[in-house]
Amino acid sequence: MIRVDNLAKSFHDKKRGIVHALDHVSFDVKPREIFGLLGPNGAGKTTCLRLLATILKPTDGTAEVGGADIVKSPEAVRRQIGFLSGDMGIPARLTPREVLAFFGKLNGLEGEKLRRRIDEMVETFEISDFANTKTDKLSTGMKQKLAIARTVLHDPPVLILDEPSSGLDVPTARLIENFMLKARESGKCILFSTHVMEEAEYLCDRIGVVHQGKLKALGTMDELRERTGKHRLREIFLDLLEIGELAQGARK
Ligand SMILES: Nc1ncnc2c1ncn2[C@@H]1O[C@H](COP(=O)(O)OP(=O)(O)OP(=O)(O)O)[C@@H](O)[C@H]1O
Ligand SMILES: [Mg+2]
Repeated sequence: MIRVDNLAKSFHDKKRGIVHALDHVSFDVKPREIFGLLGPNGAGKTTCLRLLATILKPTDGTAEVGGADIVKSPEAVRRQIGFLSGDMGIPARLTPREVLAFFGKLNGLEGEKLRRRIDEMVETFEISDFANTKTDKLSTGMKQKLAIARTVLHDPPVLILDEPSSGLDVPTARLIENFMLKARESGKCILFSTHVMEEAEYLCDRIGVVHQGKLKALGTMDELRERTGKHRLREIFLDLLEIGELAQGARK
């Protein structure tokens, strides 16, 4: 459902010169699959997700979402995805119910169907206590719950979530994790990034580890265990980054 083929993005930065944010990465994500992107700060995760969400244009390579090319058919891609970006972009003067109504209408929902769907989201993401409070008065976690509700409101087949559990307390993070598991059950294709190793272990069918724009490893937990000889994802992750450093040292 998501096919990433040699995808690359470079930025021209005045101070740093050319930054290879994503450096020829390939992987795919199937329907009914949760794929987690891990990597240290600045590894290229957000860049990858923004490319797939058609917010950025690649410098090289291609990718398809549901058969639509991200460069040739960005609108067809956008119709199939719910994209949660790090900067939540929630209008400040509206209440959560108004935000959901606004984005629901943008995505073609209306009338009774829209009302029902908003009620569902308010219940699923436990928004009811603050559903009618202006969003500039909400806590970080409350805003994040609303941002996720907004992302999945129109029930898209593909979910692309950049650090969905960022800013959430443990029970709320679990709420979101369980939502993702249910979404997988119903056939959705889910690609997300996280820094929370326990979360990736709990959720992911497969994991991709990105470092300095490159995919260092890709596989199931068992495959990554076999490759590194480590058991917990935290140790596997650190081990894989070490490999990155060693390989880089060897090239010098
Ligand atoms: N618009 C931009 N202009 C210049 N450089 C950029 C731009 N966007 C991202 N970068 C650079 O690309 C690299 C990858 O950034 P990216 O945001 O994809 O990392 P990330 O893996 O999401 O990190 P984090 O875990 O901190 O969110 C970084 O070196 C970053 O500084
Ligand atoms: Mg990021």
